Amino acid sequence: MFRSTQLKTLAFAAAFACLSSVQAATTVIPLSSFDNYTIFEEYWAYLYPWGSDHNGSARMVGNSTNHAHIALASSTLSLIATPTSGAVPPTSTANPNPAIHYASGTVYAKEQITVTSTNSYTLQGEFSAPTAVGTWPAFWLTAVNSWPPETDIGEWKGTANTWFNTFNTSSIVQSTIVPWPTDLSFHSLQAILTAESNNEDVKIEFFMDGALKSTQYGEGFVGKPLWLIVDLQMEGSSGSPGPTGTTTYKIRDVEITRSGS
Ligand SMILES: *[C@@H]1O[C@H](CO)[C@@H](O)[C@H](O)[C@H]1NC(C)=O
Ligand SMILES: *[C@@H]1O[C@H](CO)[C@@H](O)[C@H](O)[C@H]1NC(C)=O
Ligand SMILES: *[C@@H]1O[C@H](CO)[C@@H](O)[C@H](O)[C@H]1NC(C)=O
Ligand SMILES: *[C@@H]1O[C@H](CO)[C@@H](O)[C@H](O)[C@H]1NC(C)=O
Repeated sequence: MFRSTQLKTLAFAAAFACLSSVQAATTVIPLSSFDNYTIFEEYWAYLYPWGSDHNGSARMVGNSTNHAHIALASSTLSLIATPTSGAVPPTSTANPNPAIHYASGTVYAKEQITVTSTNSYTLQGEFSAPTAVGTWPAFWLTAVNSWPPETDIGEWKGTANTWFNTFNTSSIVQSTIVPWPTDLSFHSLQAILTAESNNEDVKIEFFMDGALKSTQYGEGFVGKPLWLIVDLQMEGSSGSPGPTGTTTYKIRDVEITRSGS
């Protein structure tokens, strides 16, 4: 009897905890955001927040009528890089102005992510990421107003690894490097961002396939708005030369939730 009452109490407590966490969670980006271009464009925008170029050799190309490099099918986003053979202006407009060798795809979440002392964010998705030399896909957060903050939830730099990184300054970085299969199979990544008790720093817990791989701390990240970017850059940090053929990075089941306010 004692045992069964205890179990009932536990079951009630668990159900209540579950219910209250469901009620407190706000969906920032729903699981369905890659179902079609209509819902996609509600939650995501094409290219980088600052334009088509960054510090690799790919120039991003795409909009609501050109899906050659940013394409949806079967609720999966494909970012597709192809060599350009000099068809576009020769250097990136972004520091350190590398030569452009590819046309590729990038998208970013329209809603910025701002961790405060009263909320917590969970970001997750499943990724089929190329790991060949010269391929540089990522799923990352970068500061809207200054740089850093930066936190990389997935970054592949041309080897059979993904990197979890948090930048306090441009040179003070914590990185955890985790083996990543090279067969283009999908694996899940998740990050949970919560303010520390000093209400200044943010704790970031990184998971791969449901297992905690790293806990990192971003100094002064509380209250700083961040862009969530999904990009297929090329060369840059991932070595060179990159592939002579087409490279595809696939992303599915992305979901962003916020608990608290
Ligand atoms: C697009 O996908 C969303 C989410 O699944 C769905 O609600 C909507 O009806 C779809 N719209 C079109 C035009 O297919
Ligand atoms: C989309 O991009 C194509 C070229 O890639 C361009 O011709 C077209 O005007 C663009 N459309 C919009 C809506 O920006
Ligand atoms: C970044 O700052 C946080 C908060 O002060 C600290 O816990 C963390 O160790 C720092 N990271 C590095 C790489 O020094
Ligand atoms: C490119 O810029 C990002 C920040 O946007 C930084 O994390 C990365 O180290 C830079 N890499 C290179 C090769 O410049």
